[in-house]
Amino acid sequence: MSERQKTHAAAAALDYIESGMTVGLGSGSTAEIFVRLLAERVKEGMAIKGVPTSEQTADLARDVGVPLVEVDHVDHIAVTIDGADEVDGRFQLIKGGGGRHLREKIIAKASDLMVVIVDESKLVSTLGAFPLPVEVDPFGFSISAKQIYDALCKAGSTRPDVQLRRKGDGLDPFITDGHNFILDCHCGAIPDPAEAALRLNAIPGVVEHGLFIDIARVVIVGEDDGARVMEL
Ligand code: 5RP
Repeated sequence: MSERQKTHAAAAALDYIESGMTVGLGSGSTAEIFVRLLAERVKEGMAIKGVPTSEQTADLARDVGVPLVEVDHVDHIAVTIDGADEVDGRFQLIKGGGGRHLREKIIAKASDLMVVIVDESKLVSTLGAFPLPVEVDPFGFSISAKQIYDALCKAGSTRPDVQLRRKGDGLDPFITDGHNFILDCHCGAIPDPAEAALRLNAIPGVVEHGLFIDIARVVIVGEDDGARVMEL
């Protein structure tokens, strides 16, 4: 992971922002760099409103002076800028390393355009080396874990290891902004992400998984000396 590459990607994403827009603000370290750069544009007079995808991003936006709007007061989101944990050649993503993928997906799917900003380390040929986060209702989470295991096997992953995410202390479960648990699914490879997504969607205890299928249309890859913009 390179701060320099993340900064180049975040800076290039500013080209997608125009005054007057409502902008979805992603979560994670790359999205945070974007929010800080956006704040500089706001200070120079750019009029935008941000819709944060996590409490953390909302706090940062308030700190640096990016105006926010309540998600339920928004009728149109022009563009969402967000990071990712993995990106494949078809712009399918794994997100949720920070456990924010539910709100990230709600905002991204409500936007006219999702622009993903990543450093080069996030590009993969096959998704799944990064553990797939699945947000589940705490009620019956061990039942959901078994169903998630079966679903991922049927979608082609070999013996995925499904682990409850815990807080830094290693004891208590990590709790999402929506008060749910996260199951991290160590798959090694997810050969058919669309099939895996469909099967996970059918499990009652699954609130949302971190597979973003056919959502991102632009991926900006930060490099050491600039950024590469890829559009579908
Ligand atoms: C949080 C996310 C982040 O976008 C993802 O984890 C990438 O984060 P970073 O930019 O810090 O590598 O999906 O839920």
